[in-house]
Amino acid sequence: MMDKCVTVIVGTKWGDEGKGKIAAREAKDANLVIRATGGANAGHTVIYKGMKLALHLVPGGIVYPQTTCIIGPGTVVDPDVLCSEIAMLENCGIPDVKSRLKISGRTHVILPYHKDLDELHEKMKEHPVGTTKRGIGPCYSDKDNRIGIRMYDLLLPKAELKKKIVEATKLHNQAFQENGMEECIVDANNLTNHCQSVGLKLKPCITDIAPIIADNIQNSKKIVVEGAQAFRLDLDHGDYPMVTSSNPVTAGTLCGAALPPQALKTVIGIDKAYNSRVGNGPFPTELPASIDSNGNVMEYTKPLEGDIIRELGHEYGTTTKRPRRCGWMDAVILRSAKYTCGIDYLCINHLDTLGEIGNRIGYVKICVGYSYQGNIIDFYPDDIELTHEIPEPIYKTLNGGWTIDSSCKTYDDLPELAKKFVKIVEETSNIPVKY
Ligand code: IMO
Ligand code: MG
Repeated sequence: MMDKCVTVIVGTKWGDEGKGKIAAREAKDANLVIRATGGANAGHTVIYKGMKLALHLVPGGIVYPQTTCIIGPGTVVDPDVLCSEIAMLENCGIPDVKSRLKISGRTHVILPYHKDLDELHEKMKEHPVGTTKRGIGPCYSDKDNRIGIRMYDLLLPKAELKKKIVEATKLHNQAFQENGMEECIVDANNLTNHCQSVGLKLKPCITDIAPIIADNIQNSKKIVVEGAQAFRLDLDHGDYPMVTSSNPVTAGTLCGAALPPQALKTVIGIDKAYNSRVGNGPFPTELPASIDSNGNVMEYTKPLEGDIIRELGHEYGTTTKRPRRCGWMDAVILRSAKYTCGIDYLCINHLDTLGEIGNRIGYVKICVGYSYQGNIIDFYPDDIELTHEIPEPIYKTLNGGWTIDSSCKTYDDLPELAKKFVKIVEETSNIPVKY
């Protein structure tokens, strides 16, 4: 029998639920913290000695000196972003960053041409995804196509690395040529030199992670997987095609972290008391807001409900600074997330902000079902690309809002209306709320 020592933190909606904060909290007594999916499209905020650190690649657990932090083989890493993140962490005084950070040599590398391709693919689409333009999709497609450059490759002799880069960029260069992006055509010599210089900087961290994981499981050490992205952004289980290019559901994070399923102990689903989404795609409980078709905030005198939530929740992207689309809590998606991601319990962030929103708007709503294709349903439908119908939320309304101050530490301390909100979320989702 294998010891169960793995806790997975998984986003239940479209990202930005506050996974970084909870992952850091879980990492307090962990030995190993792992990022398993995505890349610098993620933006996780953690606090270190009063400083707010925005992390995109390094697991938030790095702030605890006893942890080893792994960037797993399921991720895609922009080495330039990673180098600046390491420097930022060292400048903040976090000890032994380079010796505690382990990058799987199998991790695929995002290079400038992936970001250019991301730009090109989005431009060519009638309905763009609204990606973060971090090169995530193009890097994963090169990986699938078996022409990707991996961390190990950055350590190869120059001629060998250059050969790989030439092979990987042949078709991409043609695409740049044909689409008026000649300035993006890859100069293999320059890029090889650049790759070798970042490879040299990252060399102390690039390694085989399997023995580290084996050792931790064998000795029943606590392992935390800091999920990135979320259930509805999952390539196979989310709102395809308006998704990211990895599998942020629990099973995908285990694979991306190189962890055996038998070692899984707990899955914590993270959500916010109101919901948000960046980029395009369905969002049943979205509220009207003064955001134009390019995703920019327009000038307004009287804020709409979506604007009020965005303002009170400071809902602007950590990675792209884009204003987030905002709406009411969708507890039906949580119910679907429970069974696809195997969520044991929930953490609902921003309950205090939702109380303020209620105080301002006069009420708070929770989506507890959908009206879809003439039926009332209690799960997220699978075929909306076929029916072209976004499920219509059925709401429960709580009149008023609440105020939560720092003296409120447990469920019992919560104002009555906030307790009622939590109860409705639990009943609809069928998942206990723990935090
Ligand atoms: P964290 O981990 C919010 C969204 C993008 C876009 C779609 C595809 O901070 O929750 P991509 O660049 O991945 O190809 O974009 O996915 N997206 C996120 N939204 N938080 C994230 O990460 C996201 N990662 C990707 O906005 O809609
Ligand atoms: Mg984010």
